[in-house]
Amino acid sequence: MPPAPCHLVLHPDPVLRQKAQAVETFDESLATLVSEMIRIMHESEGVGLAAPQAGHPLQIFVCNAGTENEPDSVFINPEIIEADGTPEWAEEGCLSLPGIHGRVRRPTRVRLRAQNLDGTFFEVESDEFPARIWQHEFDHLQGVLIIDRMRPIDRLAARRTLKDLVARSSQQ
Ligand code: CO
Repeated sequence: MPPAPCHLVLHPDPVLRQKAQAVETFDESLATLVSEMIRIMHESEGVGLAAPQAGHPLQIFVCNAGTENEPDSVFINPEIIEADGTPEWAEEGCLSLPGIHGRVRRPTRVRLRAQNLDGTFFEVESDEFPARIWQHEFDHLQGVLIIDRMRPIDRLAARRTLKDLVARSSQQ
């Protein structure tokens, strides 16, 4: 599976728009991919990263909400099993969309079921910052980016930066 090392994939790479496949084999190559994802997340100073952003359309994301001594979390084959609370707007960015920020509206409380690196199922719940990160990363696994969800006014403001990103990718 993952030919290490991986690198951060930027918009408009088509892998970001694929629907990620379920992970079926919990082996050494999965652990390698996850450690690459964690490396990329920290090197990019992000709070989360989904596998498509490392070039692999698999249902995996990692996150670290960034408070001191916070351990890295790994979510494999995640499912949002509950999402409620009055949806709130908050500003988000994305490592695959450098220079772009916009307000996105999301439920404030989320319960997630996922598997860890051994394949063991677990559930977690948050009504704080992780709830937003999880939903952002879960979107990546559906091929959805913040530019699809942000307020029209923010999308308009991002138009030039998006155009530059597309132009840069076609030069490579
Ligand atoms: Co993102």
